[in-house]
Amino acid sequence: MCTELHLDSSVGKTSFLFQDPDHRHADKTSFLFTPAFVSTVGIDFKVKTIYRNDKRIKLQIWDTAGQERYRTITTAYYRGAMGFILMYDITNEESFNAVQDWSTQIKTYSWDNAQVLLVGNKCDMEDERVVAGERGRQLADHLGFEYFEASAKDNINVKQTFERLVDIICEKMSESLDSADPAITGAKQGPQLTEQPAAPHQDCAC
Ligand code: GTP
Repeated sequence: MCTELHLDSSVGKTSFLFQDPDHRHADKTSFLFTPAFVSTVGIDFKVKTIYRNDKRIKLQIWDTAGQERYRTITTAYYRGAMGFILMYDITNEESFNAVQDWSTQIKTYSWDNAQVLLVGNKCDMEDERVVAGERGRQLADHLGFEYFEASAKDNINVKQTFERLVDIICEKMSESLDSADPAITGAKQGPQLTEQPAAPHQDCAC
C-alpha cells in the first residue's frame, strides 16, 4: 500500500515516520526520536508494517521534502499514492496557513480516491501552541479530511494515524469494488497493492 507523508519543512514528517512504538520497523536503528533536524532532500522512502484485523499490511511511505524547491520532484510521486498524511506544526502558524495550498496540490496531482488525514504535529509543545485544535478540526472538516493531533516526540497518536489511514483506504477500496467503480476495476486504474514502491508517473514530453 503506497502512502505519502506530506507538508511544510520542519513540521516533523520524518520524525513521525521514524516513530515506531512496536519496534517492528524494518530499520531497527531508526525508531528513536532525535531532536536533531536534518531537512529531507527531495524525497525519501520507508517501509512500515502495521497489523489490522489479523492482517499484516506493508506500507510504502514516501517522505516528501517540505521545502518549496523540491516541489516538482515531490508532486511527481502523488499519483502513485493511495493515501496522504498532510501535516502542519501546531506551534507554527505559517505551516497551518499552507495546508489549504498543499491540499490543492494533493487534489490536483493525486488519484481521485486517495484518502487524506490532516495531522497537527508537536502537540507536546502546548506552551508554544499557536494553532488551536478547534481550528485544525474546522479546516479538516472544510477540506473533507479526518483530523488528528499528534506528537512524534512523545509518541502520541502516531500509530493511530497510520492505522486510521489504512482503515479509510481499505474502506474506500471495498466501496469502490462493491460499486464496480471504474477507478478500481476499469481503464482508469488507481494505485494497486504491490510488492514494489510505485514509481512516479512519467509524462511523455513529445
Ligand atoms: P523537512 O524534511 O525539511 O520537510 O522537515 P520534516 O517535516 O521532516 O521535519 P523533521 O522530522 O526533520 O523535524 C524537524 C524538527 O522538529 C526536528 O528538530 C525534530 O526533532 C522536531 N520535531 C519533530 N516532531 C516533533 C514533535 O512531535 N515534537 C517536538 N517537540 N519536536 C518535534
